[in-house]
Amino acid sequence: MTLAAADDRNALEIAYWNGPGGQRWLNRQQVQDALLAPVAEVLFDRAAARVGEIVLDIGCGCGTTSIALARRVAPGGRVLGIDVSLPMLERARQLAPKELPVDFALADATVYPFEPGRGDLLCSRFGVMFFAEPARSFANMRCGLRGGARLAFACWREPRENPWLLLPLQEAYRHVPRLPEVGPEDPGPFSFAAERRVHAILERAGFGTIELQPIDLLFDLANGRGLEAAVDAAMGIGPASRALDGQPAALRAAAAESIRAALAQCQVGDTVPLRGALWIVTAVNA
Ligand SMILES: C[S@@+](CC[C@H](N)C(=O)[O-])C[C@H]1O[C@@H](n2cnc3c(N)ncnc32)[C@H](O)[C@@H]1O
Repeated sequence: MTLAAADDRNALEIAYWNGPGGQRWLNRQQVQDALLAPVAEVLFDRAAARVGEIVLDIGCGCGTTSIALARRVAPGGRVLGIDVSLPMLERARQLAPKELPVDFALADATVYPFEPGRGDLLCSRFGVMFFAEPARSFANMRCGLRGGARLAFACWREPRENPWLLLPLQEAYRHVPRLPEVGPEDPGPFSFAAERRVHAILERAGFGTIELQPIDLLFDLANGRGLEAAVDAAMGIGPASRALDGQPAALRAAAAESIRAALAQCQVGDTVPLRGALWIVTAVNA
């Protein structure tokens, strides 16, 4: 199975999600889903998927949100999960119960030929920040929606508001080279942090009634399993994991030591809660 069509400008992200990024999410899928479960809760609350609706889940990864949405729209509804990562979609297909109305497409949402005017809801948990030209990608996704359809997605606010991602990175940087500098609008986890930019992108793509709701959450990096689990999580997700990719074992061990010492300051019993900040973005297909 290969990616049928893709925008060349997304090639680097597509390679990343079919390479080290996708592999890490795969290895950590259960832990990751537990960590991000509170995000799914607020997102689904705002998305308000109803029985009978057709939902497009963009950047669905290992399929957890697509499966949860399918439970909400059955019977009569259907979910299409779209992702560029072959290994993550293979996991999604394994996890989806046969009786649920959910399909998956290996595709770049920028150019995927959505069935025109069918979708009632476009939804995504952190799957829309990786497009080289986001207004074009959203305009293409909008083609798959009926008039009046809803959009609801989660994206990160600024790095400084997300110590749960920033603190491990800062500790890793004591030992490993810095990642190449990325501009605030370059594809990546924080590319939708600026409220004005998100507004402009969605407006240009043809959406209206655009709202960004700030949500602050505590992320337990340990998932209730103590300091070592938190260190493992901190090294396996977000920008710290990108910085540690392919580094020699000795440097990774030194980084782990620094991360452990920093996280120990935040430990409460078997949990290691750190602050995270996101937007829940909603809009309507005008
Ligand atoms: C941070 S992960 C989130 C995965 C999933 N939504 C979740 O919450 O578990 C981002 C996902 O976006 C996908 N992605 C990146 N660029 C994409 C594109 N152009 N079209 C479709 N999916 C894309 C990645 O492959 C990855 O699975």
